[in-house]
Amino acid sequence: MNSLTVSIESIKSGFGTLDTARLNGGQRLALHYFSMAAILFIAQLLFGLLAGLQFLWPGFLFGWIDFSVNRMIHINAMVVWMLCGFIGSVYWLLEEESGIPVAGLKLGKLAFWVLAAAVTVVVLVYLFIQTGPGNDTTRWLINEGREYIEAPRWADIGIVAVMLVFFYNVAATFARGHWSGIAGVLTLDLVALAGLYLAGMFYATNITVDQYWWWWVIHLWVEATWEVLVGCIMAWGLMKLLGVSRRIVQTWLYIEVALMFGSGILGLGHHYFWIGTPDYWLTIGGFFSALEPVPLVAMVVHSVYDAGVHKLKNSNHPAFAWIIAHTFGNFLGAGVWGFMHTLPQINLYTHGTQWSASHGHLAFFGAYATLIIAFFYLAVQQLRGGMTFGANLSDHGWKWKWAMGLLNTGVMGMTIALLVAGYEQSFIERAVEGSTWSGYFAAQNHPWFQQAMGWRLAFGVMTFVGAVLLMVDLLTVGADRDTTPLS
Ligand code: HEM
Ligand code: HEM
Ligand SMILES: [Fe+2]
Repeated sequence: MNSLTVSIESIKSGFGTLDTARLNGGQRLALHYFSMAAILFIAQLLFGLLAGLQFLWPGFLFGWIDFSVNRMIHINAMVVWMLCGFIGSVYWLLEEESGIPVAGLKLGKLAFWVLAAAVTVVVLVYLFIQTGPGNDTTRWLINEGREYIEAPRWADIGIVAVMLVFFYNVAATFARGHWSGIAGVLTLDLVALAGLYLAGMFYATNITVDQYWWWWVIHLWVEATWEVLVGCIMAWGLMKLLGVSRRIVQTWLYIEVALMFGSGILGLGHHYFWIGTPDYWLTIGGFFSALEPVPLVAMVVHSVYDAGVHKLKNSNHPAFAWIIAHTFGNFLGAGVWGFMHTLPQINLYTHGTQWSASHGHLAFFGAYATLIIAFFYLAVQQLRGGMTFGANLSDHGWKWKWAMGLLNTGVMGMTIALLVAGYEQSFIERAVEGSTWSGYFAAQNHPWFQQAMGWRLAFGVMTFVGAVLLMVDLLTVGADRDTTPLS
């Protein structure tokens, strides 16, 4: 044996045995989606770091990989990894919840590989064709130009096909098996989620009309359909982890969904303040979006109550900790950070400053990344034969705890740095200088802004280190099997 074989063997033994025999078909498919999500999460952070570096040194990699491309890949990778995380989580729970095997598992696998190939091609095209004309051909083949969903039209069609397969699998499996309250909410929500994507697919030459529909995808996804989706996944997670009764979980779910749609749908108006839409959106958007934190408070009460009643007893400490991080992260990032700038009187000053980026980072991480990470841990637990992930881990669980600390402190640090920058921009550029061109530069060159960009980068590095440690932990936790099996 040469030294290479020896080191490969030792790496393999470090990972221990991964036991897929205990997984059902849906869960095996979920592992594919989780793996793609994890890879894209790391890619998201790498491109975020490049964009963050370019904020400080604008000439960095100029002509090789421009800021616009780094930013685009950073946020596109995020949207795709989160969608993969959701699809994976739903496939994970589908067979247990419905009581029967997934209706079209083979089709589901095919859809996964189509998606993986499409994402790879789209990213390569982004990287290799960074500048050029914007016309009908480029819209179909290269870039559609709408933030977060820049993927060209051909890829849009592919994504819709993949979503239809996913939807078929969920609806048909529940229809043939057992329907539950969670199943019903989930299925209806997926109709809305996939349907809304269509609103982002047609092009209007009038920028106001174009933005009007674009927000139907972005806002109505993250503040309505995605929130309801995580509500369903979380409800199932609480039953699984804490043994909360189905009756309690479902009652809460119905209340949360009603509040979420009641405030979130018309809350859309907070994006229509200044884009050329009629004035009544100021009132509608301000009023309804101010109510959006209410369901998020309900979610905190719900999970803290359940955790208390069940005395925090659970067999997967990392998953449980990330679920709690999700509840508070959702409330803080979306609820509190969203509320801060949602009234038109305030948004007039904060609109489009780093304030938005501060909220965007904490909300996406707090509401969505956290819950998907919790499901990663549920999956890994099954892969380790269903063993307990608790204080009994042979390395005392330092890796998951440090990963969690670094990730949460990193994102919170970035959020605060961006908030300082946003506050400074609102103050100098908007309030003092009256939104003039020279005011814009005065704000960009102010030491508070520049130092904040430095702190964002530093905390970004911390976030990245946390994410790498998280991946190491996911691959190795419980590998030595020095843990007590579940009784
Ligand atoms: C998990 C849920 C949420 C996520 C992921 C999220 C994410 C984001 C992101 C990324 C942006 C920037 C969009 C852009 O590129 O222009 C944004 C904007 C905004 N969000 Fe949220 N958000 C969430 C919930 C909320 C809630 C509940 C509120 C209100 C209470 C809110 C209020 C706003 C407002 C007012 C803006 C516009 C900022 C501006 O004027 O530039 N968001 N959100
Ligand atoms: C390594 C850590 C990270 C760094 C250095 C970083 C850096 C950046 C930069 C430079 C931008 C462009 C901002 C602008 O155009 O003004 C950006 C945008 C964004 N990032 Fe990150 N990011 C990181 C991690 C994350 C994470 C963990 C998330 C969420 C899970 C996230 C979500 C977003 C979103 C939603 C936007 C668009 C915000 C907006 O348009 O308002 N980023 N990020
Ligand atoms: Fe919104």
